[in-house]
Amino acid sequence: GAMAEERALSMVTCTAPVNIAVIKYWGKRDNDLILPINSSLSVTLHQDQLKTTTTAAASRDFTEDRLWLNGEEADVGHPRLQACLREVRRLARKRRGGSAEDASPLSLSYKIHVATRNNFPTAAGLASSAAGYACLVSALARLYGVEGELSEVARRGSGSACRSMLGGFVQWQRGERPDGRDSLAHQVAPETHWPELRVLILVVSGEKKPVGSTAGMQTSVDTSPLLKHRAEVVVPERLALMMRHIRERDFEGFGQLTMKDSNQFHATCLDTFPPIFYLNDFSRQIIALAHRFNAHHGHTKVAYTFDAGPNAVIFTLADTVAEFVEVVRRSFPPATNGDQFVRGLPIDSASLSEEVVTTVVTEPVPGAVQYILHTKPGPGPQLLDDPSQHLLGADGLPRRCA
Ligand code: DP6
Repeated sequence: GAMAEERALSMVTCTAPVNIAVIKYWGKRDNDLILPINSSLSVTLHQDQLKTTTTAAASRDFTEDRLWLNGEEADVGHPRLQACLREVRRLARKRRGGSAEDASPLSLSYKIHVATRNNFPTAAGLASSAAGYACLVSALARLYGVEGELSEVARRGSGSACRSMLGGFVQWQRGERPDGRDSLAHQVAPETHWPELRVLILVVSGEKKPVGSTAGMQTSVDTSPLLKHRAEVVVPERLALMMRHIRERDFEGFGQLTMKDSNQFHATCLDTFPPIFYLNDFSRQIIALAHRFNAHHGHTKVAYTFDAGPNAVIFTLADTVAEFVEVVRRSFPPATNGDQFVRGLPIDSASLSEEVVTTVVTEPVPGAVQYILHTKPGPGPQLLDDPSQHLLGADGLPRRCA
């Protein structure tokens, strides 16, 4: 009968991407449901360079829920993780008609084991919670056979995670409802829409962020009049404009608005009381360099954006990558032998004109940039079919090689 078909162990592995906002999310109107005060828009980055991999397993033999992050056992009791688990199980129950569990492929009462791993250093301050929760929700949904709208569930893990549930260009609509049912992510355009678009992540030196996003944005909501104005007036206008720039693949418009929105986000941080500083001197030197580079070319060739940390994310077009990377290398000469200074997608070598060296490079700051990661827009979460990729073994415990 049905019982005999129940497997002792069910296991699923998914990967999910990082995303970088060009219209920033900063501030919640509901902390528990994670409902934002404004809509936001992001670009999903390619998983060949940055991804989280998560294996979720359920078994009647597991005695407790367990979680491993990058090989280390971690607390499964985290309220946001529990919210995601509860919501996926609720959708599964709904899908199964709220009745007979014995007819379903997997018992919802089984304990689960989850192992998750990033292919990039967490310490680099790259948004790992977005990819992490998007991956957790994708894997759990597959495990329980849930399909369809899942950005609402990922949102309960981390606001920005809902945007990592889709590839390409993604909007998270703030929604109007108090229950959050309309606070969802939508794809604005697929990753194939703008094939020349490239992303350079400049990992700068410095300590980890002093104030996390969750706490930081709460203080901003409580104290910053600029944030209120931004959410009510500025963002609605900018979203419409940004959608048009993306639709038209207008890099001039896209780049300028991306820089302005990053700057306004950091202005709201300064307007927060007590103020929050995410940019450091190196971040500010990168900003100045980007503006000198664009001024030299007479138009917007590169655009920077910064999240809750000092690393710069640069948008540019394929034909500009080699020259700009050389400008960065000359401006921030690597502290060590230049070993692996550029990672990710291949980059051609470029020689700089004398004029660029004198007007753009100016005074080099050695060691400011640890390394550059070259990537591009990419697709949403993926299911891995190959069982050899599971992070958990047949015993439900992390595999040594994983
Ligand atoms: C600056 O999504 O990390 O990266 O919802 O509290 O988990 P929580 O915050 P989080 O905030 C991201 C803020 C940001 C801007 C953005 O990604 O839109």
